[in-house]
Amino acid sequence: MNFFHIFSFVFISSILGCAAISSETKVLSSTESLSLSPNRNIVSHGAVFELGLFKPDHSSLERWYLGIWFKTEKTYIVWVANRDKPLSKPNGTLQIKNGNILLLDQTTLVWSTNVTTTEKKSDERSPLVAELHADGNFVLRRHSSNSNDHHHDPDSTFLWQSFDFPTNLLLPYTKLGWTRRSGRSSVLRSWKNDHNDPSSGEFSFGFDSASQFRAIPAIFTWKGTSPINRFSPWLGAFTYGIPRESPSRYLTFTLTATKEEVTFFFSWADKTSKSVLKLNATGVIQLLVLNAKNRRWDTLWTSTTDRCEDYSLCGPDSYCDKEVCNCMSGFEPKNPHAWTSGNRRDGCVRKRPLSCNNGDKFIPLSNVKYPDTSNASMHWGIEKLNECEKLCLSNCSCTAFAIVAKQVGNGLSGCVHWTGELLDVRRYVINVNQILYVRSHEKKKPKTVLIVCLSTGVGIIIIFSAIFCYWRIKKKQARARAAASSIEITLMENLELPLMDFETISIATKHFSDSNKLGKGGFGVVYKGILDGQDIAVKRLSRISGQGINEFKNELRLITKVKHVNLVQLLGYCLNRDEKLLIYEYLENRSLDLYLFDKNQSSALNWPKRFEITKGIARGLSYLHHDSPTMIVHRDLKPSNVLLAKDMTPKISDFGMARIFNRGENEVETTKVVGTYGYMSPEYSFDGTYSEKSDVFSFGVLMLEIVTGMRNRGFADANNGISLLTHVFNKWKEGEWADVIDPILDLNSSSQEVKRCLHIGLLCVQDRAEDRPIMPSVVLMLVSQTESMLQPNPPGYYALGNVLSNVAPTSNTASTSKTASTSNVASTVTVEAR
Ligand SMILES: *[C@@H]1O[C@H](CO)[C@@H](O)[C@H](O)[C@H]1NC(C)=O
Ligand SMILES: *[C@@H]1O[C@H](CO)[C@@H](O)[C@H](O)[C@H]1NC(C)=O
Ligand SMILES: *[C@@H]1O[C@H](CO)[C@@H](O)[C@H](O)[C@H]1NC(C)=O
Ligand SMILES: *[C@@H]1O[C@H](CO)[C@@H](O)[C@H](O)[C@H]1NC(C)=O
Ligand SMILES: *[C@@H]1O[C@H](CO)[C@@H](O)[C@H](O)[C@H]1NC(C)=O
Repeated sequence: MNFFHIFSFVFISSILGCAAISSETKVLSSTESLSLSPNRNIVSHGAVFELGLFKPDHSSLERWYLGIWFKTEKTYIVWVANRDKPLSKPNGTLQIKNGNILLLDQTTLVWSTNVTTTEKKSDERSPLVAELHADGNFVLRRHSSNSNDHHHDPDSTFLWQSFDFPTNLLLPYTKLGWTRRSGRSSVLRSWKNDHNDPSSGEFSFGFDSASQFRAIPAIFTWKGTSPINRFSPWLGAFTYGIPRESPSRYLTFTLTATKEEVTFFFSWADKTSKSVLKLNATGVIQLLVLNAKNRRWDTLWTSTTDRCEDYSLCGPDSYCDKEVCNCMSGFEPKNPHAWTSGNRRDGCVRKRPLSCNNGDKFIPLSNVKYPDTSNASMHWGIEKLNECEKLCLSNCSCTAFAIVAKQVGNGLSGCVHWTGELLDVRRYVINVNQILYVRSHEKKKPKTVLIVCLSTGVGIIIIFSAIFCYWRIKKKQARARAAASSIEITLMENLELPLMDFETISIATKHFSDSNKLGKGGFGVVYKGILDGQDIAVKRLSRISGQGINEFKNELRLITKVKHVNLVQLLGYCLNRDEKLLIYEYLENRSLDLYLFDKNQSSALNWPKRFEITKGIARGLSYLHHDSPTMIVHRDLKPSNVLLAKDMTPKISDFGMARIFNRGENEVETTKVVGTYGYMSPEYSFDGTYSEKSDVFSFGVLMLEIVTGMRNRGFADANNGISLLTHVFNKWKEGEWADVIDPILDLNSSSQEVKRCLHIGLLCVQDRAEDRPIMPSVVLMLVSQTESMLQPNPPGYYALGNVLSNVAPTSNTASTSKTASTSNVASTVTVEAR
């Protein structure tokens, strides 16, 4: 039975009180129609979005469209209804009829939703309403008596929503793809011309139509029906970074592949700024973020940067590397003549057919974008390389395999097999941790055998020496504490770093004489030495501290993974009975605190130098957080851990407390709070939760100290419990920021730069971690004098007055500002968790 007519009767006859038509209509009900004109629109809850008629900005033609745009950015259209059938006049009527939203040009139908009604009897009475939600979604839903609830309605209660029919762009968290609920797969389709023509262009972007039936969904950009670009690997959530070369947590693409949906959405780290992901008229995906200051949309990421991203540029069984096509190992160009003359589309073919039983082996190809997964199969739960390999060998049609590592969220994990040709493989310059094992049948050559023998021989020697070392150290440490026993593992892991001889180092530092002592760090004493004519700094971990061993291992493990001009470089290490030494490059000008807080020295740091130091530290930290192979949070950033090279280049040191974060892990709870009071973020010292934003806090304190020349810690003692942060914040609010600047600085022309630094510092020390910017943004703000910035919220500990002096159990030497102290031993405290 069809209830359709009954419904429409009910809609028309029921009366809703909430739809008075004004220039700011909120809800369209089924009882009236809305005459749209350029100044008569539907406004979203929260007034972020607006729906109405528009004419493209640069269009000279009288073509009018029903669209949604950011209310404050009228020229930025996020959705178009009648893209292929414009109105010829800025006059249209919007109404709800027969269970659908209709757009009429006078009396002719221009556009409508396409809801087929299969309603249940119980719904008969409630009328329909259409409204624009705060997230930019235009929805058609049943008017429930409890209309306040509609924000929390699950998607399924919408009869229709514009989010299921995107135009050429996505808003953050809007899902693109297939859902069982909608029964369809949404794709983006470009405008014909981004400036003046929203009609359907030739490019589209989304999951291919078979994705919901496949083990591994894939997203493509198409030109017409040919793929031109493939997003990979789509095995769970993954991230792309800015700059493009560094994966990071800036821009996140999240994929969901379940029985109910195969979708993807993006999110942008800075939730306060407006952002969209757009398929532009030339088929490129752009991340656009609104620059709040100049009201321009900045392109912060694009989907294609080099030719290797072109779909299957080099043809089958090849890979693209730095824009050059290569055949996979065991393959040769199919058409050598064309290949050498630059036409690579034919790709490569096997030199020898596969033997299919024994004789086949797998050649690893590292750092790749995995081949097109259209014909790949996924074997869940098989995570071991040899099992995956065995399975592939056992099936003659399997041509390659890979183990896909478990990624964050509901990511997948297992063994992927490819059959047939391998398409669209590229190598990355950056480390993406993806290895493809390509099956090939190599003829055994004597040379190969020799190499195998040789490498086996070398391998055996290495293994034996490792075992020997292990045994020796084991024996030596048999009497030592149990805690030390895991050191050998570190030793094995870090063979690439020189293991230095204790005697040599001892001689280099004049047997650790007091005259060579540079200072005392967190877990040991630092000495200066000369090794082979080069100055070195040697950190000798204290013998009595059992904890030092963990810090030692930690530092070794971390520091060998990172390399950056603003991070101190480890040259080697040494293990000898109870002695653990770390050997670093020696930095002439020692640490920042020696300059900053010393009346006699601080004049040596004029503003340009301070500014360069600030930028250097920011870059080093940004690298640790976002651009290093693993995300590292330092956890103990302070002036004494910033060393200065001869030319005053700052280098972050002391990774004893740093921690590796897994990708996607935002925050960890630690059972042990380590760090330095005065630089510790509130969430860390109170809750024990730590994230990259805690480092940002420490950086902010450091920055304010650099500008003011005052120590945060100690400032409170001398100033009735008001912390330096609160002091600076209050002055900032009063507009008296010039008062807090280090009087030794001669500002003249650079006062705007200094003001900017204060501003950035205050943003970094905001109480709520989520308010603080991430380090790449800080770098951007520092280098670009035009980057717009929000006003800071109150800093950490603001409400707590003299918390700084209360919280710290040990009062250290730095009780008054501007006193030099060579070390902050006592300030590095360890508090066991509650
Ligand atoms: C739009 O419609 C209104 C009322 O229907 C009419 O008064 C007005 O002249 C129309 N404007 C244009 C440009 O056609
Ligand atoms: C509306 O939906 C029906 C059935 O799902 C489909 O056949 C038709 O093409 C759709 N029309 C439009 C304009 O989308
Ligand atoms: C699309 O985006 C790319 C990358 O940002 C840009 O080079 C190109 O000009 C854009 N195309 C249009 C039509 O704006
Ligand atoms: C997948 O298999 C089909 C049928 O054999 C073939 O036409 C297609 O090219 C294959 N796709 C890939 C990416 O190998
Ligand atoms: C080999 O793999 C193909 C593709 O995954 C599959 O269709 C076929 O059944 C497998 N054959 C055997 C013997 O397992």
